[in-house]
Amino acid sequence: MQPYYITTPIYYVNDEPHLGHMYTTIAADVLARHQRLSGKDVFFLTGVDEHGQKVQQAAEARGIEPIALADQVVARYQSLWPELSISHNDFIRTSSERHHKAVQAMWCRLENAGAIYKGFYEDWYCVPCESYWTETQLKDAKCWDNHHCPDCTREVEKVQEETYFFRLSAYQDRLIAYIKDNPDFIAPESRRNEVLRFIEGGLRDLSVSRTTFSWGVPVPGDEKHVVYVWIDALTNYLTAVGFPEQENPTRWPASVHLIGKDILRFHAIYWPCMLMAAELPMPERVFAHGWWTVEGEKMSKSKGNALRPADLLAKYDADVLRYFLLREIPFGQDGDFSFDSLKARHNSELANDVGNLLNRSLAMLKKYNASILGDVGEEAPMDRALIADIEGMQRDVDSLLNRQAFHLALERINSVIKHGNRYVEDNAPWALAKVGNVARLNTVLYHLIESLRLIAIQLSPFMPKKMAEMLHQIMNDDVNIDDLRLIDCAGWGFLQADHTCQTPAPIFPRME
Ligand code: MSP
Repeated sequence: MQPYYITTPIYYVNDEPHLGHMYTTIAADVLARHQRLSGKDVFFLTGVDEHGQKVQQAAEARGIEPIALADQVVARYQSLWPELSISHNDFIRTSSERHHKAVQAMWCRLENAGAIYKGFYEDWYCVPCESYWTETQLKDAKCWDNHHCPDCTREVEKVQEETYFFRLSAYQDRLIAYIKDNPDFIAPESRRNEVLRFIEGGLRDLSVSRTTFSWGVPVPGDEKHVVYVWIDALTNYLTAVGFPEQENPTRWPASVHLIGKDILRFHAIYWPCMLMAAELPMPERVFAHGWWTVEGEKMSKSKGNALRPADLLAKYDADVLRYFLLREIPFGQDGDFSFDSLKARHNSELANDVGNLLNRSLAMLKKYNASILGDVGEEAPMDRALIADIEGMQRDVDSLLNRQAFHLALERINSVIKHGNRYVEDNAPWALAKVGNVARLNTVLYHLIESLRLIAIQLSPFMPKKMAEMLHQIMNDDVNIDDLRLIDCAGWGFLQADHTCQTPAPIFPRME
């Protein structure tokens, strides 16, 4: 089986989960589910980033130990993911022993490669951004890394300390060449160009240890130093696949790292350079998505407008949220979350289009043939056109999802649903029933139900629970969505004459 390894960022434990965390994780889940359906051997990783000054300070502010804070937030994530039908294979915590070992092994590997040296550091540090700046990179003597911290014009701290450096500069030319030779490595295109421009501006060696706090992984052989949180965090992608027990883990490299645009520099520059130094293969792809605003405003803790999963799930079905998040904006671009647009999409695309096609088809089958599929007669050009559209859609969805174009994949599926609704109008089964054209009526109803079955399968990575319901009505039996494989069920003609479907029940009741 072809392996497919997909990751989300590991989320900081100094904040509770919000819409942004849900977004990346849902997107990764859709890809994991699609690839499983396609027969790949999927390993889907998510988890939490527990170390660093930011977390230590958040814990101090609450008067608890960092690990106690981490435990609380971890519990939130671990109960949230099943509610959203997230099908991860592993959940990594950076405080775990397996991860400490991996970070220390990575450190030694970098050191043995001559990529780490001890020096003296004098620079400015922005704690919320976990980023170092030189004097000239500051704006009005303040941080302005406004990607990572949307509100950032914050005070920076002068840091002066003994530190270990990673020779980032030594890998600059190799990285540029690699990015140029591998056009699919960083996506979308605009982000790739941004990264190239940044590297071409010159890379400075990176300070990769701190002595001013202790919440982290100690540097091997020099325990007063703690490994810089990004070196620690990025290594999680190797920990989970068995590094360092496996020196060259069989599941590595990752097929895709899904991340937000704010953490692109870490994934597209630091991480590849670390891997080059450690002589490990590059991830196949790094895809940086955009950021959500809420009703036109940036989400922020201070405004208190961050959308929290519990509030969203109290109002909306998890699958409807999954659908909306991936349908509403092209993956890679920024977009706005508004309740009006969620309702509008739900009512038009889910309730009206797919919901209605399912309902009317099953209702007609019940009315005209007691819910039993009849024999298929000779196929008309209209029937062949519908089958060809379905088969084209199956291929297109696969190639679109292979480049993370979720919104286009959904558009393509929706175009087949519209085709199905047109097919109903064009064939007017009620008129066929009236004139007693049973052969043609059976053929038309079969084409509708078989199309719906194949549509539900293609939509199942996006809406696993809803599509399980839809398939249940069609198959008249429980369908284990997680175990479906295209090879067993995606061919036209799977449903047989004499199969009995269920009476329809609306799966997307209209939102008022
Ligand atoms: N711990 C680091 C990642 C380390 S990965 C080796 C981190 N964590 S985070 O919790 O701050 O953010 C995780 C992800 O949430 C990022 O990919 C970020 O883009 C995403 N989002 C945070 N706010 C967001 C929106 N408003 N919209 C979409 N995604 C957003 O960074």
